[in-house]
Amino acid sequence: MRRPVVSENIVHFMRTRQKQNEGHLAALEAFARKENIPIIPHETVAYFRLLMQTMQPKKILEIGTAIGFSALLMADNAPDAKITTIDRNEEMIGFAKENFSKYDVRNQITLVEGDAVDMLSTLDETFDFVFMDSAKSKYIVFLPEVLQKLEVGGVVVLDDIFQGGDVAKPIMEVRRGQRTIYRGLQNLFDATLKNPDLTATLVPLGDGLLMIRKNAEQISL
Ligand SMILES: C[S@@+](CC[C@H](N)C(=O)[O-])C[C@H]1O[C@@H](n2cnc3c(N)ncnc32)[C@H](O)[C@@H]1O
Repeated sequence: MRRPVVSENIVHFMRTRQKQNEGHLAALEAFARKENIPIIPHETVAYFRLLMQTMQPKKILEIGTAIGFSALLMADNAPDAKITTIDRNEEMIGFAKENFSKYDVRNQITLVEGDAVDMLSTLDETFDFVFMDSAKSKYIVFLPEVLQKLEVGGVVVLDDIFQGGDVAKPIMEVRRGQRTIYRGLQNLFDATLKNPDLTATLVPLGDGLLMIRKNAEQISL
């Protein structure tokens, strides 16, 4: 289990009372748990179902594929969407390719292999939904390019932004090894939460989501 930021009994309630994964998503969730591969937790899955079914995005970008679980979840719930998903880890790329070949039945998903630092600039298209689920210290580095590729009215969701609650502490109380992430996340919050051209909200699901709506063509962070 990752680091939930609401009380354990509420997390348990959300994970057990909400609709469970079925079919290939249930199998992939079990595989990820067995292999200790981080994927979005169940309460975020339930939220993404509703988000995808309601928004019905057409062009999705994901940074951080892992085994392809969240990409397949989005594909299932937004059947008209084309999804571009980036990962740099060879082992994860191997799992994702296998899973997409079996379960991406509408050929919605394109896997881009490489570091998002290099690959983002090669994507010559725009998106209406972006899910960022990679190294947290890099969110603020990727965000300017992600926002350039996001259509006005589009939404970016960034996962794991509470650092198990560390973000609310003074830096001196954060373990030294976590401080680069801490600084990156504080810069992210400074740049987005009160930005006049964005609508941003923090959602305490899993280790926290930051959701951002782009409201203007040019965004200065
Ligand atoms: C938390 S996992 C993604 C889980 C997936 N979104 C899911 O819920 O099913 C994070 C992934 O991001 C990838 N990653 C981290 N930093 C990256 C970067 N700079 N470029 C590309 N991939 C990156 C890692 O290799 C890892 O597979």
